[in-house]
Amino acid sequence: MQHILEELDKRRAQARAGGGERRIASQHAKGKLSARERIDLLLDEQSFEEFDMFVEHRSHDFGMEEQRIPGDGVVTGWGTISGRVVYVFSKDFTVFGGSLSKAHAEKIVKVQEMAARNGAPIIGLFDAGGARIQEGVDSLAGYADIFLQNVLSSGVIPQISVIMGPCAGGDVYSPAMTDFIFMVKDTAYMYVTGPDVVKTVINEDVSHEDLGGYRVHALKSGVADGAFENDLEALSQVRRLVDFLPLSNREKPPLRDSYDDPEREEPSLDTLVPLNPNQPYDMKELILKVVDEADFFEISPDYAKNIITGFGRMDGETVGFVANQPQVLAGVLDIDASRKAARFVRFCDAFNIPIVTFVDVPGFMPGTKQEQGALIKHGAKLLFAYAEATAPKVTLITRKAYGGAFDVMSSKNIRGDVNYAWPTAEIAVMGPKQAVEIIFRADIGDAKKLAEREAEYKAHFANPFVAASRGYIDDVIMPRGTRRRIVRALKSLKNKQLSNPWKKHDNIPL
Ligand code: HXC
Repeated sequence: MQHILEELDKRRAQARAGGGERRIASQHAKGKLSARERIDLLLDEQSFEEFDMFVEHRSHDFGMEEQRIPGDGVVTGWGTISGRVVYVFSKDFTVFGGSLSKAHAEKIVKVQEMAARNGAPIIGLFDAGGARIQEGVDSLAGYADIFLQNVLSSGVIPQISVIMGPCAGGDVYSPAMTDFIFMVKDTAYMYVTGPDVVKTVINEDVSHEDLGGYRVHALKSGVADGAFENDLEALSQVRRLVDFLPLSNREKPPLRDSYDDPEREEPSLDTLVPLNPNQPYDMKELILKVVDEADFFEISPDYAKNIITGFGRMDGETVGFVANQPQVLAGVLDIDASRKAARFVRFCDAFNIPIVTFVDVPGFMPGTKQEQGALIKHGAKLLFAYAEATAPKVTLITRKAYGGAFDVMSSKNIRGDVNYAWPTAEIAVMGPKQAVEIIFRADIGDAKKLAEREAEYKAHFANPFVAASRGYIDDVIMPRGTRRRIVRALKSLKNKQLSNPWKKHDNIPL
């Protein structure tokens, strides 16, 4: 009997050794942890249950039959984060560069299916060289199986990808279809085709970092939702994010004990908006002052900074915040901001997370660059996302709400549930200067007359009371009482029931 038990121990040790000490040391030398070390940091201590550690590839080509490593380049299973179940797969770069064989794909698909069936998030840790070149079409088919599960699970369970090393070819499309992508600075890069192929096809010299490092994806392309200093920080931040999220679309977001008084007043908010309408202020200050314990998990903090997206809690319950940031480009809605916020709104709605919107927006960004880049379609994404959302929606206009952007930012007419404004709100088709120059074009040469017209326009529109008198705003509230009013609004919406007409699916302007 003893020898049978020893055999199991031996086989387990062999699987746990992955690609061997030398390759693990090389992984550490690059500042990266091993696949198993990462799982240990991601999950609650001792909670990991591994599946398929004895799975091997079935290839007989290119001498592969001589090289079999149990586990075949990916560690899969489930465990808990703060006591709640999550499924996980972690690519093992020390085994064939984490490349994907058919057997490796089957391991991932198994946990993807289990996560969806059992209503738990799935987290993928990526550090891999793409398709297992020796396996050819079997590897490509394996990727397609994974992609299919990504799509079927979208909106059913949260899917999170963490890029912790190279990530090329097939390994970028699966993350691209998940809800959130995070990168580790300096060790992670992701691209469809690497620098060598770029050189061959278009004769361009480019480094891994310039092609697909975090500066590309977390700052410019918006492919990544955040970047962290190292593996440890990335994994602990993913734990923090998971704490905000429901396990599936069948569940409510978790309720967290809050020690922050829901009635708390913030007198400093009374003076947050400067008297000069052209002077910026930091909208993040408002978010941090109203959420529980100033705990805010920002999504895409370094991309399209003119709009802020992220999760916080109000009296213990998770809320998604979307807020124009007057500090960057005056909070204008451009292509990037519209895409970023639309995707976030859709995530929240898919999981029925209430959406709180803070509005200070001068309108959509004018100009040829934006129009040629399809601002119309991208701006419409945000409008579409807000309008179709049936999750509770609470809106507060702090200052400007001009033009189409007023409609887009969760206005009453696209089913905002509770819409507030501060007394400093200005709601109009456009700003006073542009408006009088259009409707009083004849007065353009007469500076005095134009100034009078502008003052008249401001007196009429640069306040929330016209909108409030028509019912487009439910109430004008004191800034200091914002937290209390939003908490109460959200409580009133707890049992909200609203559904859209039956359809196979909508056709959001992609
Ligand atoms: C098999 C691979 C591999 C792969 C790496 N290895 N990539 N084995 N298939 N795709 C192996 C190496 O042979 C090596 O084995 C070990 O992994 C480490 O690789 P190195 O090259 O030594 O590491 P490094 O210098 O850090 O470079 C990492 C890398 C590079 C940048 C990822 O390996 C690379 O460019 N790999 C190929 C990337 C690629 O083009 N993949 C195919 C994409 S196409 P030993 O035994 O020496 O340790 C694709 C199609 C799917 O994915 C499309 C679906 C839509």
